[in-house]
Amino acid sequence: MPLYKAPRIPSSEITPRSFYLKRRELLGLAAGGLVAASASPVLASPLAAKASAYKVDEELTPKESVTTYNNFYEFGLGKDDPAAKSGAFKPTPWTVEVGGMVAKPKTFGLEDLMKTFPIEERIYRMRCVEAWSMVIPWDGFPLAALLNAVEPTSEAKYVAFESVVRPEEMPGQSGVFQSLPWPYVEGLRLDEAMHPLTLLAVGLYGETLPNQNGAPIRLVVPWKYGFKGIKSIVKITLTDKQPPSTWNIANPSEYGFYSNVNPAVDHPRWSQATERRIGTGGFFGTARVDTLPFNGYANEVADLYKGMDLKVNF
Ligand code: MTE
Repeated sequence: MPLYKAPRIPSSEITPRSFYLKRRELLGLAAGGLVAASASPVLASPLAAKASAYKVDEELTPKESVTTYNNFYEFGLGKDDPAAKSGAFKPTPWTVEVGGMVAKPKTFGLEDLMKTFPIEERIYRMRCVEAWSMVIPWDGFPLAALLNAVEPTSEAKYVAFESVVRPEEMPGQSGVFQSLPWPYVEGLRLDEAMHPLTLLAVGLYGETLPNQNGAPIRLVVPWKYGFKGIKSIVKITLTDKQPPSTWNIANPSEYGFYSNVNPAVDHPRWSQATERRIGTGGFFGTARVDTLPFNGYANEVADLYKGMDLKVNF
C-alpha cells in the first residue's frame, strides 16, 4: 500500500496564513463558548519551558510550515488535511496509560505529566521518509523520565505506543475508505526509548501542540524517520517482544522497524541521499541539503546499533 507520494510541495498545498489565522479566530470563539461547546478545541497556550543543550544551530522552519504541512492520516491523506480537518478534535482532558512490564503501572493525566516532568525546549532536525526535512523547536520532556517513574522490569526489552481512536473527531478514521489500520501504533527498543534524545513533546514554538502536530502529546525521535513520531498517544506498554508499527504493517518491504535515517540505504522508490529543507531559501523555500547518517545524531546514537547490519535492519 504505497501511500507516501514522492516529495512535492506545491504552494497550493499549504494553507494560506490568512485562512489559517481566520480559522484560529473561529476556534477561539468556540473555545470561548460562543460557538456550540461540543466542538470546542483548545487553543495553543504558552508553555513554561527551560532551554536545553539539545539544539541544532540551524535555521528554524517557520511555524506556519510546521503547522500546515503535516502527515496525520487520522485526519486525511493530504498535507493540508490535518490543519484543515482537526478543529473538532479535543486534546483535553487526556490521559496516558503506562503499563506492561513495569513495577508501577499508572495512568497519568496530561496536567500531571506536565507538572511532574520539567518541560525543555529542544531544537531538533526532523527528517521525513519522503525526503523533506524541518528544524523544529519542540517543548517536551525525555521519555526516559516517564519510563523511570513506572520502573521497567528486567524482562522489558521494547516500548509499544498507541494513538487515540476517535472516528467521531477524526475524519480519516470514519467513512468507507480507511487509509491505515487503527490505532496507529509504533515501537522502540528499550535502549532507544531511554536515550536522552527521545522526547515526549507537548508543544512546539513555546506553545501547546496544535492538533495537527499530535496534540496533546507525541513522540519525537530525531535520528529516525518522522513516521516513528507517533501522535496523540494514549497508551505506552513495556514488552519483551518487538512491537508492531503501522507503516511496517502497511508496507513491510518499504518501512522497517528501525527506520533510522540513513542516506546510504535508499527507499525502494526514491533516494534518501538528500532532502528538501522546508523553510530555507526564502518563505516556504526548499533548499536541497545532504542527508546525514542518523540525521546528524550519529555521535549520540550510533553506538546503539554497533555490530548491526543497517541495510538489513532498515
Ligand atoms: N501519528 C499518527 N497517529 N498518525 C499519523 O498519520 N504520521 C507520521 C508521524 N506520526 C502519523 C503519526 C508521519 S508519516 C510523520 S512524517 C510525522 O508524524 C509528521 O509529523 P508532523 O506533521 O508534526 O511534522
